[in-house]
Amino acid sequence: MLNFDFYNPTLISFGEGRIAELDRLIPAKARVLVLFGGDSARRTGTLAEVQGALADREVLLFGGIEPNPSYETLIEAVALVRREAVDFLLAVGGGSVIDGTKFVAAAVNYAGEPWEILQSHGSKVTQALPFGAVLTLPATGSEMNNGGVVTRKSEQAKLPFRNKLLFPVFSILDPSKTFTLPERQVANGVVDAFVHVVEQYLTYPGDAPVQDRFAEGLLLTLIELGPKALSQPQDYQVRANLMWVATLALNGLIGAGVPQDWATHMIGHEITALYGLDHAQTLAVVLPAMLQQRRAAKHAKLLQYAERVWGLSSGSEEQRIDAAIVRTRDFFEALGVKTRLGDYQLGQEVVEPLIAQLEAHGMTRLGEHRDVTPAISRQVLQACL
Ligand code: NZQ
Ligand code: ZN
Repeated sequence: MLNFDFYNPTLISFGEGRIAELDRLIPAKARVLVLFGGDSARRTGTLAEVQGALADREVLLFGGIEPNPSYETLIEAVALVRREAVDFLLAVGGGSVIDGTKFVAAAVNYAGEPWEILQSHGSKVTQALPFGAVLTLPATGSEMNNGGVVTRKSEQAKLPFRNKLLFPVFSILDPSKTFTLPERQVANGVVDAFVHVVEQYLTYPGDAPVQDRFAEGLLLTLIELGPKALSQPQDYQVRANLMWVATLALNGLIGAGVPQDWATHMIGHEITALYGLDHAQTLAVVLPAMLQQRRAAKHAKLLQYAERVWGLSSGSEEQRIDAAIVRTRDFFEALGVKTRLGDYQLGQEVVEPLIAQLEAHGMTRLGEHRDVTPAISRQVLQACL
């Protein structure tokens, strides 16, 4: 096992009806800014429930944080927080709203130009406003981690950042708040959580059997629950388990002490920034091609994945690996998330612009061995067509 620090201070308040706890979780004298996305929080009544729970406090609202939150929008929230002397932030939404709130929390008292926060991937952040979250979409794990991804539209750059100051103080996970999700977002969430686990598990053997078996348990649970979440959309237990799996997939636990990959995510971010695909759509496209391209380096773990996750134990080693990659692709497709660039009307013409963006953003040595160079990324993208 590798050396590691494990630190996660986020309090999770899980279950139906827990939004009322906001009154206890946020300091009584706080001046609160509630941040949300488009109209879903208002339409579903979640925003009203939040406002009801905070009725005794001074509360301001900031809506309009878009999916793949933009620097340009978030800077407006930063100005509002400074102008109104807000001292506590509350995100109500999915990963985009929570990530955006993290950026605002980091930028409000940042001494330099906030763009540096993204350019330095968060390492320059030295202070942050406290914030909490009310999660409405199980997918990213942002509710219990210290990372985010923000897009600067003017640069077509979607950049990740993280800092130990950027854990939510608390997150409220009420599974019944996910009943209103469109099928596309439910499926996206399953794919995103699945790929989060894969990025931390499917690398090379790390003598970490607990992390491996946690990861395999999460993958098996997603395979079991994903289709049910679509076919039984009002089943509370399915949504509750899905919500907790997605949180555990990226709260630091399974990634502690093991090598991590993240090449699929970094290539995926560039596809979203240039061509607007949903985050999970990019992962469904890139992951099968990435596994194929890097099957030699991932040989031992691919065989373990084939056997323990997909029950594939007969045939030659290469046949089992092929079958595991096919099963992975079929799982995404069965959820309704397409796995080829062509399915999104993108062809050969996108490959070189994407490679140029990876180079521009310093994404030139990706993967668990830091050997996914632009030349390898090009081969992966060719295999995504
Ligand atoms: O904008 P509104 O109207 O609120 O609608 C949203 C949005 O259109 C809607 N939605 C959310 N909850 C709903 C709902 N609609 C009905 N009922 C509800 N209960 O869903 C749409 C998508 O929301 P979004 O927050 O964009 O989705 P998701 O949670 O998948 O977040 C994706 C973002 O998270 C980043 C991605 O890159 C992407 O920008 N990620 C963040 C990570 C992290 N912080 O650790 C890790 C991930 O790898 C990921 O990169
Ligand atoms: Zn992701």
